[in-house]
Amino acid sequence: MNAPVKIAVLVSGGGTNLQALIDSEKRGDLKSGTISLVISNKEGAFALERAKNANIPAVTVTKAACGSQEAFEAKMKEVLAENGIELIILAGFMSILSADFTSAYPERILNVHPSLIPSFCGKGFYGLRVHEAALAYGVKVTGATVHFVNEIPDGGKIILQRAVEIKEGDTPETLQRRVMEEAEWHLLPAAAEKVSAQILCARK
Ligand code: GAR
Repeated sequence: MNAPVKIAVLVSGGGTNLQALIDSEKRGDLKSGTISLVISNKEGAFALERAKNANIPAVTVTKAACGSQEAFEAKMKEVLAENGIELIILAGFMSILSADFTSAYPERILNVHPSLIPSFCGKGFYGLRVHEAALAYGVKVTGATVHFVNEIPDGGKIILQRAVEIKEGDTPETLQRRVMEEAEWHLLPAAAEKVSAQILCARK
């Protein structure tokens, strides 16, 4: 069976990494997998607009509406199963998933993190906070990492990493933008293709 791997992208915000994945599939660089579903855990996230513009089915599943982490994850599992999803990509998904959830998809969940893991990662390090921490520490090089997701926040096996230089006068915002442009938007689609191709190979 050679049909591309069905990918779900989980988002919470602006969705520029989702856009990078969509653009990569459009260009034909991401070809072993196809983005089949977008799930947002935030009502009205701009990433939902991006999904709509690309004609990708999108749903919102919030913890508040579900009532508990358990019910939230059960609902996501249900939606993922209904859509035949084989690979899950966390692209700016700002919710830590339980061990119960991650163990249901071993080496089938990818995450992009805006630092060179093991620096500036784990619980509490997300979004701009990561770049604030890198600048406060005074490191001269940062970057991005794509890794498999397991029960340890940002602790799964590393798939791809790329370094990005910190410049004099950087603010968390300018650094976030440079890390996205120079690293995240390239690494995430490349890792999606790499893992999708491996899943396709394993099918044969
Ligand atoms: C990205 O920088 C992503 O690496 C980061 O949030 C941003 C989301 O932007 N994710 C984390 O910090 C996860 N720990 P986006 O919504 O525009 O893709």
